[in-house]
Amino acid sequence: MYYPHRHLLAIEGLHPPEITHLLDLAESYVLLNRSGKTQRDLLRGRTLINLFFEDSTRTRTSFELAGKRLGADVLNMSVATSSVNKGETLLDTAATLNAMNCDLLAVRHDQSGAPNLLAQKVGAAVINAGDGTHEHPTQALLDALTIRRRKGRLEGLTVAICGDIAHSRVARSNIHLLTTLGSRVRVVGPPTLIPAEAERLGIAVFHDMRAGLADADIVMMLRLQRERMAKGLVPSEREYFHFFGLDQEKLAHAKPDALVMHPGPMNRGVEIDSAVADDPVRSVIKEQVEMGVAVRMAVLDTLARVQRRNAL
Ligand code: NCD
Repeated sequence: MYYPHRHLLAIEGLHPPEITHLLDLAESYVLLNRSGKTQRDLLRGRTLINLFFEDSTRTRTSFELAGKRLGADVLNMSVATSSVNKGETLLDTAATLNAMNCDLLAVRHDQSGAPNLLAQKVGAAVINAGDGTHEHPTQALLDALTIRRRKGRLEGLTVAICGDIAHSRVARSNIHLLTTLGSRVRVVGPPTLIPAEAERLGIAVFHDMRAGLADADIVMMLRLQRERMAKGLVPSEREYFHFFGLDQEKLAHAKPDALVMHPGPMNRGVEIDSAVADDPVRSVIKEQVEMGVAVRMAVLDTLARVQRRNAL
């Protein structure tokens, strides 16, 4: 058993073989998906609930597709958070889900730590589908799979993660995963958007795109997460694009075969220029979405196996 945990709540704390196991299994699901086949017997009779307290396009639909391709019964619950007491709602919801005997629960919440809390209260295996500014483990796994398939490895690569690092759970999960598997990670952005913990995590910090991108193998762009931002951290979007937006000129400082990534949703003309985002050679943004389904199939499959083993 290469992945012994009941849940997938964070990348931080996972060991290299546990991550590699999920990536290898996901790799086999990429091939299955491309062949047009499904494996509907694997999760037959199991229920996956997608519990989303925050907006999502890619993550929710890919969890849904992943569950269906493995034969699970999939239920989507989108919960409006605006007018309710979040703590109470979460625990009430946990009680409801427990009564329904759901097996797998993918949770997105605007509060960091919400999936961890749910994991203590429900019988289901919980997958963190993004919590506040904390982690987004399946995103980091799909990013790693995209890189590994294109570059053949993760070890020794230089990955520049650029933009709003401070508010990004995608950045945090990627930093943990990539450093655990031996990549060199840099973060690039204005000082107001780089978290103080960056240095503690042992990653290089750059405030200039050209210096930060120099000789990078991978350029990962992030959205300005305004919904999580205190006002006034960024002067204007035009000025931000001028200094930190990725265009062909800035990209030219990275390696000639550097790949451009973005978890989506993209704000074209703010953190990334359309010519770069749609560049058929350099941009792997659509491939990331494809990898997302395979990675989520691997995670659902793995957690269901752990459940079966624990039930013996
Ligand atoms: C990200 C998220 O929600 O954390 N999107 C995603 O899951 N693909 C990034 C973002 O919202 O900017």
